Amino acid sequence: MKNKIVSYIVPKLTDYSAAALEKAVGECIAACKSESEEVRNDAELKSFRDRWMARKNGILTQINDLWLKGAAKDAKREAGIRVNALKARITEMVDAAHVAETDADSLSAERVDISLPGIRRPIGAEHPVIKTRNEIVGVFERLGYSVAEGPVVETDYYNFEALNFPPNHPARDTQDTLFIGAQQSKPQRDRLLLRTHTSPVQIRTMEKMRPPIRIVIPGTVHRNDPPDASHSPMFHQIEGLAVDTNITFGDLKGTLDHAMKALFGSSVKTHFRPSFFPFTEPSAELYVTCFICGGSGKRSSDPCRPCKQTGWIEVLGCGMVDPNVFEFVKDNGYDPKKVSGFAFGMGVDRLALLKYGVDDIQLFFQGDVRFLQQFG
Ligand code: DAH
Repeated sequence: MKNKIVSYIVPKLTDYSAAALEKAVGECIAACKSESEEVRNDAELKSFRDRWMARKNGILTQINDLWLKGAAKDAKREAGIRVNALKARITEMVDAAHVAETDADSLSAERVDISLPGIRRPIGAEHPVIKTRNEIVGVFERLGYSVAEGPVVETDYYNFEALNFPPNHPARDTQDTLFIGAQQSKPQRDRLLLRTHTSPVQIRTMEKMRPPIRIVIPGTVHRNDPPDASHSPMFHQIEGLAVDTNITFGDLKGTLDHAMKALFGSSVKTHFRPSFFPFTEPSAELYVTCFICGGSGKRSSDPCRPCKQTGWIEVLGCGMVDPNVFEFVKDNGYDPKKVSGFAFGMGVDRLALLKYGVDDIQLFFQGDVRFLQQFG
């Protein structure tokens, strides 16, 4: 017991006034409390309990003897009530008493061992698809393009109709669409679906911004394709759109040729083949020389698989914006007689597969850290 100068001694009572009783009770409780806080080990706890509770000469017994027996007849009742209350209180405190922590104990519990190794927080890394997306967007940003985005849950109007896919037109069959259910009561153009491409954001942006515009639109898209090594029901696209007066196919070729060299290296060559998309006329597919085999179709003596030995890899669809598309946003300054533009759209996941030599697109979406760590 530390700092224990005087331990409590039960006083004799001569004055049985309420105030005197109160004072005596208060002192007794305070003494019990401070002694209970000094208990440092089991032996001390036992002697503390005995000191206060022992039938023979314990403090409570002494109080009983000294305070009650010495009380005058008329003071007995009042003193009895107080002593009983005091006993209950002391019993409670003694029961609750326990071995307190020593200063040394509490200090060691609080001690910080600065020599222990720290908690390692693994640093995340960009997902290979997001990294590829950011690289592509970056190339166009440096050409002065802005970035636009649009909703993944889209209406039939933006996904198809305003892109010159008329209702029931067979061109819609090229994109196996996931429709939101229970929409039959709405007119077809208002029905919701998961956008099959980022092209609807072309229209949404032209509704909001007057020409000239130059935008790239990254985003996720969905198709009703069962997952396999080269298909996923969700994948990523980047769309591009440039509209101004006098934009020509030469601008399209020059821009995309520059972008491909920036992405795949200055030695790649580009090649445009005629194609069809409802929203561009003329339309083309862009090929680049295979950046795996350098265009030879061979890797040493083995056939090059990514380009199927052709030496060329298809990277995107593109074309001059069809005047029919401008008709839908004509009122916002897109008179097809005054403006012209080009558009392109590419699959980010496919480019990431090629770039990193990954042979299964599913690996991008399974979240396996052992796979993803390799790109950290
Ligand atoms: N939206 C097309 C698709 O998903 C890709 C595309 C082709 C976008 C030509 C374009 C474009 O903007 O001009 O298959």
